[in-house]
Amino acid sequence: MGSVSRIGLFRRERRILIVLICGFVLWIFSKGFTLRSYTIPEIHTLLQDEELYPEIGEENEEIYLEKENGTFYTYIPDITTVEPLLRTVQSIEGSFNRKYGYDWVFAFFDAGSEKFPDELKSRLDHMISGSVHFEEITLQNVHFGLPKDIEIGNLRTNGMTAGHYGLIPNHRYLSFKLKNRFAAYGFQFLPSLQQFKYVWNVDVGTEVKCDIQEDMFKKMTDEQLLYGFSYAPVESILGVRTLFEWFEKFMATDEGKIINGDHMLDFVRDAEDVHKYNLCNLESNMAIIDMDLLRTQHYKLFFEYMDSALGIFYDRWTDYNLKTLYLSAYVPKSKILWIPSTGYSDALYRMSCPLDEESRMKHGCTCDPRYDLAFSRSSCLRYFLNIEGIQLPPGVRPTEKIDIRFKRTRAKGEFFEKQYQRLESDYEKIFMPR
Ligand SMILES: *[C@@H]1O[C@H](CO)[C@@H](O)[C@H](O)[C@H]1NC(C)=O
Repeated sequence: MGSVSRIGLFRRERRILIVLICGFVLWIFSKGFTLRSYTIPEIHTLLQDEELYPEIGEENEEIYLEKENGTFYTYIPDITTVEPLLRTVQSIEGSFNRKYGYDWVFAFFDAGSEKFPDELKSRLDHMISGSVHFEEITLQNVHFGLPKDIEIGNLRTNGMTAGHYGLIPNHRYLSFKLKNRFAAYGFQFLPSLQQFKYVWNVDVGTEVKCDIQEDMFKKMTDEQLLYGFSYAPVESILGVRTLFEWFEKFMATDEGKIINGDHMLDFVRDAEDVHKYNLCNLESNMAIIDMDLLRTQHYKLFFEYMDSALGIFYDRWTDYNLKTLYLSAYVPKSKILWIPSTGYSDALYRMSCPLDEESRMKHGCTCDPRYDLAFSRSSCLRYFLNIEGIQLPPGVRPTEKIDIRFKRTRAKGEFFEKQYQRLESDYEKIFMPR
């Protein structure tokens, strides 16, 4: 009997033990698998939780101490379409900025009193390793608007007609033209940009397919460079028919005298006829510029002269058309740098990819060199390298008599146009009231 009751006792203890173990296991599981649903505001709070998403900038502040006087800058044409913007930021952060932690300034024109959405602000803030600044451009900004002599009627009938201009994207959007005028003269005085010397301009829709390993801001600073560019496109003649004659008129004025010797005018002049524009440009997208140059009295004179021709509006001059001409005549060519091996690609489907395998390996490129346009007929990079005396990659023909051509892009109706199109009626209501 005694042994039976002892067995019964064991069984009871075993049962208690099993119950305890099960209870413990269930308790552990309940900790790990709490099923509850979050409301949207709660998710936003979670996303802003510093512990879940630590800010790289703050964590690694000590390794970013060596930062130069520079920042990234992006003008956002359409604040409601955020994914292309986020992809662009992610690409630059991953390829370059995570290593260096530079700031980023975002600007947009508040046409419809939209304000910077808080969610976009916090997403950018979490993605960017440096500090982030937001600039809302309002009607009070004297640089954002039409030149004073413009005639709205003329702008409507001549400047904005689709017609054969339809071949070049965005010619008919006022929002595009205003952005270009501001990027030529105005953005350098934005309060958050004012404190910086070097600004690396990045357009929405840009991605880089290679690792940018060197601190380009440091290179610009150390070598006292004025302009570093990534891409050198050929412009369509349809949008710049009046550009070069106005530039020549400016060069003929007292203030317009070109610098002696080592200017780069041959980059923009036809080899046979120096009075003819060869349509070559240094793209301002993915370019680093010394903003003090754009803040000089001389650049202001140049801009005001060109602006008085109203070519940004009646024709389709862009900010980089103007900057390229200015640089070619008034800056020593040794102050201009080509930034190689970026794997540049943009909203117009233009891309570059290092032609030699060694560079692609070294920079971890994910691009295909067969699609490289930097050394194609729709690029002026060869001209630039020739002028600078830099050796061309093997297999690339030298520049003499190449027939460069404007590349017609697939961008019509796609993102590059849509970002300007969407707010067009707001802009026209403000700037071209009937
Ligand atoms: C950065 O450059 C700007 C423009 O040249 C200048 O005003 C500012 O003082 C500089 N900042 C520092 C920290 O040197």
